[in-house]
Amino acid sequence: MRKVQITGWGMSVPEKVMTNAEIEKLVDTSDEWIKSRSGISERRICGDEESVATMAIEAGKRAIERARIDPAEIDLVILATLTDARLLPSTAAYVQEGVGARRAGAFDLDCACTGFIAGLGVAAQFIATGAMQKILVIGADAVSRILDWTDRGTCVLFGDGAGAVVVEAGDEGIPLSLYLRNDGSAANALTVPSPMGVRSELPANREFVITMDGPAIFRFAVEAMVDAAREVCDRSGIALDDFDLVIPHQANLRIIQAAARALKVPMDKVYTNVERYGNTSGGSIPLALAEAVDAGRIKKGDRILLVGFGAGMSWGALTLEWTAETASARLSEIPLAAATA
Ligand code: ACO
Repeated sequence: MRKVQITGWGMSVPEKVMTNAEIEKLVDTSDEWIKSRSGISERRICGDEESVATMAIEAGKRAIERARIDPAEIDLVILATLTDARLLPSTAAYVQEGVGARRAGAFDLDCACTGFIAGLGVAAQFIATGAMQKILVIGADAVSRILDWTDRGTCVLFGDGAGAVVVEAGDEGIPLSLYLRNDGSAANALTVPSPMGVRSELPANREFVITMDGPAIFRFAVEAMVDAAREVCDRSGIALDDFDLVIPHQANLRIIQAAARALKVPMDKVYTNVERYGNTSGGSIPLALAEAVDAGRIKKGDRILLVGFGAGMSWGALTLEWTAETASARLSEIPLAAATA
Protein backbone atom coordinates (compact mmCIF):
# COMPACT_ATOMS: atom_id res chain seq x y z
CA MET A 1 0.00 0.00 0.00
CA ARG A 2 1.30 3.44 -0.88
CA LYS A 3 1.66 6.17 1.73
CA VAL A 4 -0.58 9.23 1.59
CA GLN A 5 0.70 12.78 1.93
CA ILE A 6 -0.85 16.22 2.12
CA THR A 7 0.91 18.39 -0.46
CA GLY A 8 -1.34 21.45 -0.50
CA TRP A 9 -3.63 23.26 1.94
CA GLY A 10 -5.84 26.33 1.98
CA MET A 11 -8.69 28.03 3.81
CA SER A 12 -11.43 30.52 3.10
CA VAL A 13 -13.85 32.41 5.35
CA PRO A 14 -16.49 35.00 4.52
CA GLU A 15 -15.60 38.66 4.88
CA LYS A 16 -18.32 39.53 7.38
CA VAL A 17 -17.29 39.20 11.01
CA MET A 18 -20.19 38.86 13.45
CA THR A 19 -19.20 39.64 17.03
CA ASN A 20 -20.95 38.53 20.19
CA ALA A 21 -22.07 42.14 20.63
CA GLU A 22 -24.02 41.86 17.36
CA ILE A 23 -25.64 38.60 18.52
CA GLU A 24 -26.67 40.36 21.75
CA LYS A 25 -28.93 42.52 19.57
CA LEU A 26 -30.69 39.44 18.12
CA VAL A 27 -31.28 37.18 21.14
CA ASP A 28 -31.27 37.36 24.93
CA THR A 29 -27.61 36.55 25.54
CA SER A 30 -24.35 38.24 26.49
CA ASP A 31 -20.76 38.32 25.34
CA GLU A 32 -19.81 37.04 28.80
CA TRP A 33 -22.20 34.02 28.56
CA ILE A 34 -21.08 33.05 25.07
CA LYS A 35 -17.36 33.36 25.89
CA SER A 36 -17.58 31.56 29.23
CA ARG A 37 -19.73 28.66 27.86
CA SER A 38 -18.10 28.21 24.47
CA GLY A 39 -14.93 30.33 24.16
CA ILE A 40 -16.37 32.00 21.05
CA SER A 41 -15.84 35.76 20.53
CA GLU A 42 -16.81 36.11 16.88
CA ARG A 43 -17.66 34.13 13.77
CA ARG A 44 -17.80 34.71 9.99
CA ILE A 45 -21.13 34.86 8.16
CA CYS A 46 -21.68 34.42 4.41
CA GLY A 47 -23.07 37.40 2.52
CA ASP A 48 -25.48 37.01 -0.38
CA GLU A 49 -22.65 36.46 -2.86
CA GLU A 50 -20.90 33.86 -0.67
CA SER A 51 -21.80 30.21 -0.18
CA VAL A 52 -20.37 26.77 0.52
CA ALA A 53 -19.34 26.63 -3.14
CA THR A 54 -17.52 30.00 -3.19
CA MET A 55 -15.65 29.22 0.04
CA ALA A 56 -14.82 25.68 -1.08
CA ILE A 57 -13.56 26.91 -4.46
CA GLU A 58 -11.34 29.55 -2.86
CA ALA A 59 -9.89 27.13 -0.30
CA GLY A 60 -9.48 24.47 -2.99
CA LYS A 61 -7.65 26.83 -5.37
CA ARG A 62 -5.24 27.80 -2.59
CA ALA A 63 -4.55 24.13 -1.80
CA ILE A 64 -3.92 23.39 -5.49
CA GLU A 65 -1.55 26.37 -5.77
CA ARG A 66 0.39 25.22 -2.73
CA ALA A 67 0.61 21.68 -4.09
CA ARG A 68 2.03 23.24 -7.29
CA ILE A 69 -0.05 21.01 -9.50
CA ASP A 70 -2.20 21.65 -12.54
CA PRO A 71 -5.88 21.35 -11.45
CA ALA A 72 -6.42 19.04 -14.43
CA GLU A 73 -4.21 16.47 -12.65
CA ILE A 74 -6.81 16.03 -9.90
CA ASP A 75 -8.66 12.70 -10.07
CA LEU A 76 -11.38 13.38 -7.52
CA VAL A 77 -12.98 16.22 -5.57
CA ILE A 78 -14.56 15.23 -2.25
CA LEU A 79 -16.57 17.95 -0.51
CA ALA A 80 -17.59 17.33 3.10
CA THR A 81 -20.62 19.53 3.73
CA LEU A 82 -24.13 19.51 5.13
CA THR A 83 -25.21 22.94 3.90
CA ASP A 84 -25.57 22.54 0.13
CA ALA A 85 -27.39 25.49 -1.40
CA ARG A 86 -29.21 23.03 -3.71
CA LEU A 87 -30.36 19.44 -3.21
CA LEU A 88 -29.28 18.76 -6.79
CA PRO A 89 -26.62 18.76 -8.10
CA SER A 90 -24.00 18.17 -5.42
CA THR A 91 -22.05 21.29 -4.45
CA ALA A 92 -18.93 19.30 -5.37
CA ALA A 93 -20.07 19.60 -9.01
CA TYR A 94 -19.72 23.40 -8.84
CA VAL A 95 -16.43 23.11 -6.96
CA GLN A 96 -14.93 20.69 -9.52
CA GLU A 97 -15.71 23.24 -12.24
CA GLY A 98 -14.68 26.22 -10.12
CA VAL A 99 -11.21 24.93 -9.29
CA GLY A 100 -10.62 23.77 -12.87
CA ALA A 101 -10.36 20.05 -12.03
CA ARG A 102 -11.62 19.18 -15.48
CA ARG A 103 -10.63 15.51 -15.43
CA ALA A 104 -11.94 14.80 -11.92
CA GLY A 105 -14.90 12.98 -10.46
CA ALA A 106 -16.75 14.83 -7.71
CA PHE A 107 -19.15 14.08 -4.88
CA ASP A 108 -20.41 15.50 -1.61
CA LEU A 109 -19.97 13.57 1.60
CA ASP A 110 -22.37 14.16 4.50
CA CYS A 111 -20.91 13.18 7.85
CA ALA A 112 -21.59 16.54 9.55
CA CYS A 113 -18.68 17.86 11.59
CA THR A 114 -16.82 14.54 11.22
CA GLY A 115 -17.03 14.97 7.44
CA PHE A 116 -13.47 16.12 6.75
CA ILE A 117 -11.99 13.19 8.68
CA ALA A 118 -14.30 10.82 6.76
CA GLY A 119 -13.43 12.52 3.45
CA LEU A 120 -9.70 12.39 4.04
CA GLY A 121 -10.09 8.74 5.05
CA VAL A 122 -11.93 7.94 1.81
CA ALA A 123 -9.33 9.81 -0.26
CA ALA A 124 -6.53 7.95 1.51
CA GLN A 125 -8.00 4.58 0.48
CA PHE A 126 -8.10 5.55 -3.23
CA ILE A 127 -4.51 6.79 -3.07
CA ALA A 128 -3.21 3.84 -1.03
CA THR A 129 -4.63 1.27 -3.43
CA GLY A 130 -3.27 3.11 -6.46
CA ALA A 131 -6.75 3.71 -7.90
CA MET A 132 -6.15 7.47 -7.91
CA GLN A 133 -3.15 9.79 -7.73
CA LYS A 134 -4.29 13.26 -6.63
CA ILE A 135 -7.42 14.12 -4.67
CA LEU A 136 -8.78 17.44 -3.46
CA VAL A 137 -10.56 17.04 -0.11
CA ILE A 138 -12.53 20.03 1.14
CA GLY A 139 -14.62 20.62 4.25
CA ALA A 140 -16.96 23.60 3.98
CA ASP A 141 -20.17 24.75 5.61
CA ALA A 142 -22.36 27.82 5.69
CA VAL A 143 -24.04 26.89 8.96
CA SER A 144 -25.48 30.42 9.21
CA ARG A 145 -27.97 29.36 6.50
CA ILE A 146 -29.52 26.68 8.74
CA LEU A 147 -29.61 28.63 12.00
CA ASP A 148 -32.70 29.85 13.78
CA TRP A 149 -31.56 33.39 14.59
CA THR A 150 -34.16 33.56 17.38
CA ASP A 151 -32.78 30.46 19.18
CA ARG A 152 -30.05 31.55 21.58
CA GLY A 153 -29.18 27.92 22.34
CA THR A 154 -27.80 27.39 18.83
CA CYS A 155 -27.21 30.64 16.91
CA VAL A 156 -24.35 31.78 19.15
CA LEU A 157 -22.26 28.66 18.49
CA PHE A 158 -21.85 28.40 14.72
CA GLY A 159 -20.19 30.17 11.79
CA ASP A 160 -19.19 29.71 8.16
CA GLY A 161 -15.85 28.62 6.69
CA ALA A 162 -13.90 26.16 4.57
CA GLY A 163 -10.57 24.37 4.44
CA ALA A 164 -9.03 22.16 1.78
CA VAL A 165 -6.10 19.82 1.20
CA VAL A 166 -4.55 18.10 -1.80
CA VAL A 167 -3.52 14.51 -1.05
CA GLU A 168 -1.10 12.48 -3.12
CA ALA A 169 0.91 9.27 -2.88
CA GLY A 170 4.42 9.63 -1.48
CA ASP A 171 7.23 7.77 0.24
CA GLU A 172 7.73 9.84 3.38
CA GLY A 173 6.12 9.79 6.78
CA ILE A 174 4.00 7.39 8.77
CA PRO A 175 1.08 5.55 7.15
CA LEU A 176 -2.18 7.41 7.72
CA SER A 177 -4.43 5.76 10.35
CA LEU A 178 -8.18 6.24 10.56
CA TYR A 179 -10.89 5.51 13.14
CA LEU A 180 -14.55 6.26 12.34
CA ARG A 181 -17.67 5.54 14.39
CA ASN A 182 -21.36 6.37 14.48
CA ASP A 183 -24.12 5.86 17.05
CA GLY A 184 -27.43 6.19 15.24
CA SER A 185 -29.37 5.63 18.47
CA ALA A 186 -28.45 9.23 19.35
CA ALA A 187 -29.16 10.59 15.86
CA ASN A 188 -32.00 12.85 16.99
CA ALA A 189 -29.74 14.87 19.31
CA LEU A 190 -28.89 17.18 16.41
CA THR A 191 -31.15 17.47 13.38
CA VAL A 192 -32.13 19.76 10.52
CA PRO A 193 -35.37 18.88 8.70
CA SER A 194 -35.36 18.69 4.91
CA PRO A 195 -38.03 19.85 2.45
CA MET A 196 -37.80 16.27 1.15
CA GLY A 197 -39.01 14.98 4.53
CA VAL A 198 -42.24 13.21 5.40
CA ARG A 199 -44.95 15.85 4.94
CA SER A 200 -46.45 15.36 8.41
CA GLU A 201 -43.02 15.95 10.00
CA LEU A 202 -42.18 19.16 8.14
CA PRO A 203 -41.98 22.24 10.37
CA ALA A 204 -45.15 24.34 10.10
CA ASN A 205 -43.11 27.46 9.32
CA ARG A 206 -41.00 25.52 6.78
CA GLU A 207 -37.85 26.80 8.45
CA PHE A 208 -35.14 24.21 7.89
CA VAL A 209 -32.96 24.98 10.89
CA ILE A 210 -30.84 23.20 13.50
CA THR A 211 -32.39 21.84 16.67
CA MET A 212 -30.06 20.23 19.17
CA ASP A 213 -29.76 18.98 22.71
CA GLY A 214 -26.68 21.02 23.65
CA PRO A 215 -25.87 19.55 27.08
CA ALA A 216 -26.32 15.94 25.82
CA ILE A 217 -24.01 16.66 22.87
CA PHE A 218 -21.48 18.23 25.23
CA ARG A 219 -21.23 15.02 27.29
CA PHE A 220 -21.15 12.82 24.18
CA ALA A 221 -18.51 15.02 22.52
CA VAL A 222 -15.96 14.78 25.32
CA GLU A 223 -16.28 10.97 25.56
CA ALA A 224 -16.22 10.61 21.76
CA MET A 225 -13.07 12.67 21.28
CA VAL A 226 -11.29 10.79 24.07
CA ASP A 227 -12.35 7.43 22.58
CA ALA A 228 -11.33 8.43 19.04
CA ALA A 229 -7.93 9.82 20.06
CA ARG A 230 -7.07 6.68 22.07
CA GLU A 231 -8.31 4.26 19.40
CA VAL A 232 -6.48 5.92 16.52
CA CYS A 233 -3.26 6.00 18.56
CA ASP A 234 -3.62 2.25 19.13
CA ARG A 235 -4.16 1.71 15.41
CA SER A 236 -1.19 3.83 14.41
CA GLY A 237 1.05 2.30 17.09
CA ILE A 238 2.14 5.81 18.13
CA ALA A 239 1.68 7.06 21.69
CA LEU A 240 -0.43 10.19 22.18
CA ASP A 241 2.59 11.94 23.73
CA ASP A 242 4.48 11.49 20.47
CA PHE A 243 2.11 13.69 18.46
CA ASP A 244 3.27 17.27 17.95
CA LEU A 245 -0.15 18.82 17.44
CA VAL A 246 -3.77 17.80 17.99
CA ILE A 247 -6.36 19.52 15.80
CA PRO A 248 -9.81 18.92 17.27
CA HIS A 249 -13.22 19.82 15.85
CA GLN A 250 -13.76 23.43 16.89
CA ALA A 251 -17.23 23.20 18.45
CA ASN A 252 -16.68 24.61 21.91
CA LEU A 253 -13.47 25.50 23.76
CA ARG A 254 -14.77 23.80 26.93
CA ILE A 255 -15.34 20.53 25.06
CA ILE A 256 -11.80 20.72 23.67
CA GLN A 257 -10.30 21.53 27.09
CA ALA A 258 -12.26 18.74 28.82
CA ALA A 259 -11.14 16.17 26.23
CA ALA A 260 -7.52 17.38 26.43
CA ARG A 261 -7.63 17.13 30.24
CA ALA A 262 -9.02 13.58 30.09
CA LEU A 263 -6.32 12.59 27.57
CA LYS A 264 -3.60 14.43 29.56
CA VAL A 265 -2.62 16.42 26.47
CA PRO A 266 -1.35 19.93 27.36
CA MET A 267 -3.33 22.71 25.66
CA ASP A 268 -0.15 24.07 24.04
CA LYS A 269 -0.24 20.93 21.86
CA VAL A 270 -3.86 21.58 20.85
CA TYR A 271 -4.69 24.04 18.08
CA THR A 272 -7.82 26.14 18.57
CA ASN A 273 -9.42 28.91 16.54
CA VAL A 274 -13.03 28.45 17.73
CA GLU A 275 -12.61 31.86 19.42
CA ARG A 276 -12.60 33.55 15.99
CA TYR A 277 -14.76 31.29 13.81
CA GLY A 278 -17.20 29.39 16.05
CA ASN A 279 -18.27 25.93 14.89
CA THR A 280 -17.97 25.79 11.10
CA SER A 281 -18.98 22.10 11.00
CA GLY A 282 -17.31 20.38 8.01
CA GLY A 283 -15.04 23.40 7.59
CA SER A 284 -13.78 23.30 11.16
CA ILE A 285 -10.87 20.81 11.09
CA PRO A 286 -9.40 21.67 7.64
CA LEU A 287 -9.72 25.38 8.40
CA ALA A 288 -7.82 24.89 11.64
CA LEU A 289 -5.26 22.66 9.89
CA ALA A 290 -4.55 25.20 7.13
CA GLU A 291 -4.40 28.06 9.62
CA ALA A 292 -2.06 26.11 11.91
CA VAL A 293 0.36 25.48 9.04
CA ASP A 294 0.37 29.14 8.02
CA ALA A 295 0.77 30.21 11.65
CA GLY A 296 3.99 28.18 11.81
CA ARG A 297 2.49 25.64 14.22
CA ILE A 298 3.18 22.72 11.88
CA LYS A 299 6.49 21.91 10.23
CA LYS A 300 7.85 19.07 8.14
CA GLY A 301 8.12 15.87 10.16
CA ASP A 302 5.42 16.79 12.69
CA ARG A 303 2.94 14.12 13.67
CA ILE A 304 -0.62 15.41 13.63
CA LEU A 305 -3.78 13.99 15.16
CA LEU A 306 -7.15 15.17 13.81
CA VAL A 307 -10.13 14.34 16.03
CA GLY A 308 -13.79 15.25 15.74
CA PHE A 309 -17.45 14.51 16.36
CA GLY A 310 -20.73 15.61 14.89
CA ALA A 311 -24.35 14.86 14.06
CA GLY A 312 -25.10 11.23 13.50
CA MET A 313 -23.87 11.03 16.18
CA SER A 314 -20.57 10.48 14.46
CA TRP A 315 -17.00 10.64 15.69
CA GLY A 316 -13.54 9.81 14.48
CA ALA A 317 -9.85 10.56 14.30
CA LEU A 318 -7.02 10.40 11.82
CA THR A 319 -3.25 10.49 12.25
CA LEU A 320 -0.69 11.63 9.72
CA GLU A 321 2.81 12.96 9.41
CA TRP A 322 3.25 16.39 7.82
CA THR A 323 5.66 15.88 4.92
CA ALA A 324 5.30 19.16 3.01
CA GLU A 325 7.77 22.01 3.30
CA THR A 326 5.89 24.79 5.07
CA ALA A 327 8.13 27.82 5.58
CA SER A 328 9.07 27.90 1.90
CA ALA A 329 5.58 27.24 0.64
CA ARG A 330 3.65 30.30 1.77
CA LEU A 331 1.12 31.16 -0.88
CA SER A 332 2.46 34.66 -1.51
CA GLU A 333 5.91 33.20 -2.19
CA ILE A 334 4.83 30.71 -4.84
CA PRO A 335 5.57 32.12 -8.31
CA LEU A 336 2.34 32.14 -10.32
CA ALA A 337 3.99 30.32 -13.20
CA ALA A 338 4.93 27.46 -10.90
CA ALA A 339 1.43 27.35 -9.45
CA THR A 340 -0.20 26.87 -12.84
CA ALA A 341 2.53 24.88 -14.58
N1 ACO B 1 -27.22 33.00 26.30
C1 ACO B 1 -27.65 32.96 27.57
N2 ACO B 1 -28.22 31.88 28.12
C2 ACO B 1 -28.33 30.77 27.35
C3 ACO B 1 -27.90 30.74 26.02
C4 ACO B 1 -27.34 31.92 25.49
N3 ACO B 1 -26.88 31.99 24.23
N4 ACO B 1 -28.14 29.52 25.51
C5 ACO B 1 -28.69 28.80 26.48
N5 ACO B 1 -28.81 29.55 27.59
C6 ACO B 1 -29.37 29.17 28.88
C7 ACO B 1 -30.38 28.06 28.76
O1 ACO B 1 -31.67 28.58 28.51
C8 ACO B 1 -30.29 27.40 30.11
O2 ACO B 1 -31.04 28.19 31.02
P1 ACO B 1 -31.85 27.50 32.23
O3 ACO B 1 -30.80 26.85 33.08
O4 ACO B 1 -32.51 28.66 32.90
O5 ACO B 1 -32.76 26.54 31.60
C9 ACO B 1 -28.82 27.56 30.43
O6 ACO B 1 -28.32 28.64 29.65
C10 ACO B 1 -28.06 26.31 30.04
O7 ACO B 1 -26.91 26.42 30.78
P2 ACO B 1 -25.92 25.22 30.85
O8 ACO B 1 -26.63 23.92 30.98
O9 ACO B 1 -24.94 25.53 31.93
O10 ACO B 1 -25.24 25.32 29.43
P3 ACO B 1 -23.99 24.52 29.00
O11 ACO B 1 -22.85 24.78 29.90
O12 ACO B 1 -24.35 23.11 28.69
O13 ACO B 1 -23.67 25.23 27.62
C11 ACO B 1 -23.91 24.84 25.29
C12 ACO B 1 -24.63 25.20 26.61
C13 ACO B 1 -22.92 25.95 24.99
C14 ACO B 1 -24.96 24.72 24.20
C15 ACO B 1 -23.14 23.50 25.47
O14 ACO B 1 -24.02 22.53 25.99
C16 ACO B 1 -22.56 22.98 24.18
O15 ACO B 1 -21.66 23.56 23.59
N6 ACO B 1 -22.99 21.79 23.72
C17 ACO B 1 -22.44 21.18 22.50
C18 ACO B 1 -23.11 21.74 21.28
C19 ACO B 1 -22.38 21.38 20.04
O16 ACO B 1 -21.18 21.28 20.00
N7 ACO B 1 -23.14 21.19 18.93
C20 ACO B 1 -22.55 20.96 17.66
C21 ACO B 1 -22.29 19.53 17.40
S1 ACO B 1 -21.32 19.28 16.01
C22 ACO B 1 -22.25 19.19 14.58
O17 ACO B 1 -22.35 18.16 13.95
C23 ACO B 1 -22.92 20.42 14.02
